[in-house]
Amino acid sequence: MSNFIFSDHDTTTLAKTFGTPLYVISQDKIEQSINEITSALTAENIDHSINYAGKAFLNTAMCRIVKNAGINLDVVSEGELITALTSAFPPSRITFHGSNKTDREITLAINSSVGTITIDSLEEIPRVDRIAGELGKVQNVHLRLSPGVEAHTHEYITTGTLDSKFGIPLSQAIRGAIMCKEAANLSLTGIHCHIGSSITTMEPFAVAMEIMLDMFMQFRGMGIDLSELNLGGGFGVIYLPGDTRFDLRAYAKTLRQSIDKFFEKYPDEKVPKIIVEPGRFIISEAGITLYTIGTIKEIPEVKTYISVDGSLADNPRPALYQAEYHAIIANKFGEEPTRTVTVAGRACESDTLIRNISLPDPQRGDILAVMCTGAYNYSMASNYNRLPRPAVVLLKGDKAELMVRRETVEQVIQNDLTPSWLE
Ligand code: LLP
Repeated sequence: MSNFIFSDHDTTTLAKTFGTPLYVISQDKIEQSINEITSALTAENIDHSINYAGKAFLNTAMCRIVKNAGINLDVVSEGELITALTSAFPPSRITFHGSNKTDREITLAINSSVGTITIDSLEEIPRVDRIAGELGKVQNVHLRLSPGVEAHTHEYITTGTLDSKFGIPLSQAIRGAIMCKEAANLSLTGIHCHIGSSITTMEPFAVAMEIMLDMFMQFRGMGIDLSELNLGGGFGVIYLPGDTRFDLRAYAKTLRQSIDKFFEKYPDEKVPKIIVEPGRFIISEAGITLYTIGTIKEIPEVKTYISVDGSLADNPRPALYQAEYHAIIANKFGEEPTRTVTVAGRACESDTLIRNISLPDPQRGDILAVMCTGAYNYSMASNYNRLPRPAVVLLKGDKAELMVRRETVEQVIQNDLTPSWLE
């Protein structure tokens, strides 16, 4: 019998030291993913920068990791922005996104001198312009366009008018560009699109590139001095054994080919800097969740449930998206599976984390390690059933320290108030 080692750490020791449920994040793996993206784009000689999409996983320590890795940060709310500013993340390297930004958020972003605000609708243009004017600043902005390419894991569709709350439809893009050009306090430096998440094929990116490069040159033709093209994120990861990892080399080649083909027609024009904005690819495989197995319920001729001390409150993705996960028993690593079970969360409803997984003789007290939980688990966690959120431990080399303390029940109830008539 051996124990499952993750990023050079014995996961059973981590469970013992920090308790369960526990999110475990490997800084080495984060840095490796970032390096892979950089190397692939550099190998194709693509002038680029990387924005980490903070929505996938963000806290002050993560901001420091991103800062030290030399990449930029994309935030989508006051909460994410203040998290970044609190960690001394350089504001000029922050991009502020959001489909319904409040005036207060726009004011905070401009006041803090964020590098770019990505404008999501025509309605937002005069608001950002007005607030920048009131603050006496000229704000760099990108326009988020909705190129009519929608990509899912294994397919993509193009539609004339994409029904999406995100971005400006292509039919309104020129109007948006004119509005920005006429706005005294805005400098339109680029355009943006994000075509979907967990994409594994290259064709949707090639189609999006063609459309976006065309828009880019149309904007330049209007005398707007654009220099950046943000293609969003969406790179797929390995959730299950047998999944294909996003092929970064093929991606970089696709971008290179699109650029070369397009700029044949414009030999004297400067090629835009390409910005990529992945969240999941950078953090997902760098994270696992450790649970302790509790009740085991065998329903004869139906199935066996093994319950863990976590739930859809710490990983809502199976319930929300029918997401599938792989798990191993950390203290029985390498042992032959003996039974097929369903892993149930402890929340009071059909809270299935993993359906039909074969495990080696699961027993109460065993530690279950669920793989690839770095993205959109911690960041989407809730207090359903008044469950406190798990701690997050960060691994770096042989070091392991908390990056987020375990929430307490006291913290869960601390904002509760008793209206006077109930006292
Ligand atoms: N940029 C923009 C503008 C986005 O909206 C997103 C994700 C990203 C970048 C990063 O995408 P990624 O590389 O992580 O796929 N909660 C869902 C995912 C929602 C993604 C929303 N936008 C999930 O758990 O699968």
